Amino acid sequence: MLALCWGAFYLAFNSGGFSQDVYESNAVNWAGGGTQAAAPVDPKVVGKRLYTQNCVVCHQANGMGVAGQFPPLAGSEWVLTEGPHAENHLVMLVLNGLQGPSVVKGQSYNNAMVPWKQLTDEQIADILTYIRSDWGNNAPAISPEFVAQIRKDSAAQSDSWTQEQLLAVSPVKPSAASGAAPATK
Ligand code: HEC
Repeated sequence: MLALCWGAFYLAFNSGGFSQDVYESNAVNWAGGGTQAAAPVDPKVVGKRLYTQNCVVCHQANGMGVAGQFPPLAGSEWVLTEGPHAENHLVMLVLNGLQGPSVVKGQSYNNAMVPWKQLTDEQIADILTYIRSDWGNNAPAISPEFVAQIRKDSAAQSDSWTQEQLLAVSPVKPSAASGAAPATK
C-alpha cells in the first residue's frame, strides 16, 4: 500500500505536464527504475520530433516538399539511396547542405539547403532513420557511428555540396554493424 501511494505521488510530481523533453528524460526512470538496463529510446520517434523541429517547414509533414522549391523526401532516391545515391552522400548533404541544380524523382530544383552540422551525430542518425521509414519509405536505419565517420571524412568541406560534387564521391555503404539499428543505447 505504501509503495502504491508512493507510485501515485511520484507520477503526479514527475509527469511534468507531459512536456516532451521532460517525458523523454523521465522515460529512462520509468523503464529502468535505476536498477535495470534502460529501455532503448526508438530512434524513429526521436527522429520524427527532430524532423518536425528542423525539416518540416520545407519538406512538409507528408514528406512531399513543395513543388518547384523544396524536393520531396517520400520516395526520393537520395533518401532511399537508390541508383548512384549512397548513404554517405545522404549524410554529407545533410551535414553541409546542398546548393544549385538537383534532380529528385525526375523533377529539377535549383535552390539551396543550409547545413545541419550543428546537430549531433545521434540527432542526424535519428532524423535519417525516421525519413527512411515514413511515408512508404523503407530503407535501413542510419547509425550515429556512420554519421560520425562521414563527418570526419568530409571535414575539409566548408561549402554546401552541389549534386555534381556529391555524386563524384565514391559510395560508402555503412558496415553491417554500424548500419543496423542500435539494439541498446
Ligand atoms: C529552408 C528549407 C529547408 C529545410 C528546413 C530543410 N531542407 Fe532539405 N532541402 C531543401 C532544398 C531547397 C533542397 C534542394 C537543394 C537544391 O536544389 O540544391 C533540399 C534537399 C534535401 C535532400 C536531398 C533531396 C531530396 O529531396 O531527397 C534531403 C535528403 C534533405 N533536403 C533532407 C533534409 C533534412 C533531413 C532536413 C532537416 C534536418 C532538411 N532537409 C531541412 C530545403 C530545406
